[in-house]
Amino acid sequence: MSRRITLTGIKPTGRPHVGNLLGAIRPALAIARDPDLQACYFIADYHALTTVRDPEELADRTRDVAATWIACGLDPERVLLYRQSDIPEVFELAWILACFTPKGWMNKAHAYKAAVQENAERGEEDTDAGIDMGVYTYPVLMAADILLFDTDVVPVGKDQKQHVELARDMAQRINHTYGRDLLVLPEADIRDDTATVPGLDGRKMSKSYDNTIPLFVPEKRLKKLCNKIVTDTSPPEAPKDPDTSSVFSLYRQFATPQEAESMAERYRRGIGWGEAKGALFEAMNRALAEPRTRYEELMADPGQIDALLAEGSRRARERARPVLERVRAGIGIDPAR
Ligand code: TRP
Repeated sequence: MSRRITLTGIKPTGRPHVGNLLGAIRPALAIARDPDLQACYFIADYHALTTVRDPEELADRTRDVAATWIACGLDPERVLLYRQSDIPEVFELAWILACFTPKGWMNKAHAYKAAVQENAERGEEDTDAGIDMGVYTYPVLMAADILLFDTDVVPVGKDQKQHVELARDMAQRINHTYGRDLLVLPEADIRDDTATVPGLDGRKMSKSYDNTIPLFVPEKRLKKLCNKIVTDTSPPEAPKDPDTSSVFSLYRQFATPQEAESMAERYRRGIGWGEAKGALFEAMNRALAEPRTRYEELMADPGQIDALLAEGSRRARERARPVLERVRAGIGIDPAR
């Protein structure tokens, strides 16, 4: 029996940080270990083109994502890791899907609506000002990413739920039009991000708040960043609540359950913030040291990353081709006839 397909895209728009590791990379790697699943993880570089307009940056970020995921334990033999832009079938399917996507659906897509709203709030007369077709049709390209691989499950954060539903709607519309199952209907598997990772200032760790701890900074820098985490001004001997502390909630992610338990106890008895941050640094550094070395090796050898991605793309296209052929034949774009 063939394995169920789980697929997700990673937009290469920023330097990977600790929030990405805990919120996306670790959960995705755990899913990929399930022997009943084939995981397809790709770098959505053409999606990033809606915002990243510096050619070197785009190329660099793309390699950065690949190196990061491999350094964190992704096995490119098991997981299909590829670059979206290497799969021309994606863009052909995107056109086909566009022909079955009512314009009104795109008007309702969250990202587009938010951009319109922003324009309105700024008193812009044309509420579509500055919005290009890349942003407007973003969900169509994303649907092509998903449907091209007969994807069963798409693990995403809740901000992407609507996009997966749109992909399902498009597939349904095509299947309905031709009276047969040309496309597999995907389902979103919404990652619970209620346990958000706190950043340096205590708010959710996010590139847009500029409060991140980048994953692979040198040890010294990591230590400095740990020391910068905002805490209250209570004295060392004052009892502290581990459950409301950013320092502790990060610590817990990198320590063993036993270590976390005894550290929580020390918080309750009273621990100086300097010491608590020192323990966090030690735990993080222990977990990140090996991946950091691997990451640095990979980034020093872009040819190696490119070769890995090229091999992933070759295998991905092998899977994609028959799906696109099936759709083409189904709609009457069939060179054999
Ligand atoms: N839109 C997703 C994001 O911003 C990235 C993405 C592109 C994606 N294509 C995808 C995610 C297909 C899941 C499936 O995070």
